Amino acid sequence: KRVVAFISGGGSNMLALAKACEAGEYPAEIVAVFSDKPEAGGLAKAQALGLPTRVFERKAYGSKAEHEAAILAALAEIGPDLTCLAGYMRLLSGEFIRAYEGRILNIHPSLLPLFPGLHTHQRALDAGMKVAGCTVHFVTEGMDEGPVIAQSVVPVLIDDTAETLAARVLTVEHKTYAAALKLVASGNVSMRADGTVERLGSE
Ligand code: GRF
Repeated sequence: KRVVAFISGGGSNMLALAKACEAGEYPAEIVAVFSDKPEAGGLAKAQALGLPTRVFERKAYGSKAEHEAAILAALAEIGPDLTCLAGYMRLLSGEFIRAYEGRILNIHPSLLPLFPGLHTHQRALDAGMKVAGCTVHFVTEGMDEGPVIAQSVVPVLIDDTAETLAARVLTVEHKTYAAALKLVASGNVSMRADGTVERLGSE
């Protein structure tokens, strides 16, 4: 399966997916990396892997609709099977999501439905959580609420700060996203029209 990854920052999740795709018998390949930020550190990482990159800066477009139209046109040229949002900090419109229904994955640094949105690690600490983690889900119109593909849990340690917890979660994000993409790209997990997740095989 051909995948376009979307980043806004360091791109460590995109890098983890690209590395997983290089392993034998992995049912996906990253064919391009898109970013909304020209300064995204992940762009250099993608280029170092020889991956084509495209930047679509929001301020270069008159409206969100025009911004998304440019991205959708570039996607149409590539014709990916899947798109993976990997630290992409922009909400997609319903129109964009419908164009790729059931084919957009996202990773979120919390155990959804807990802590959708931003500052997830500080919120988990403030709530007194003893575990934290990440969620890979299909993207639907609501923010961080699509059906779950995979989750991983890490312990919260007594002296954790948002930074130390974020670092522990980020490490499992990489493994979880690679595992989730493999499940979807292999066809073992898919999203039905009614938004539920279909799991085949031993899942
Ligand atoms: C990660 O915590 C990811 O879950 C969130 O953005 C952070 C940075 O991701 N969406 P990356 O290093 O750019 O992949």
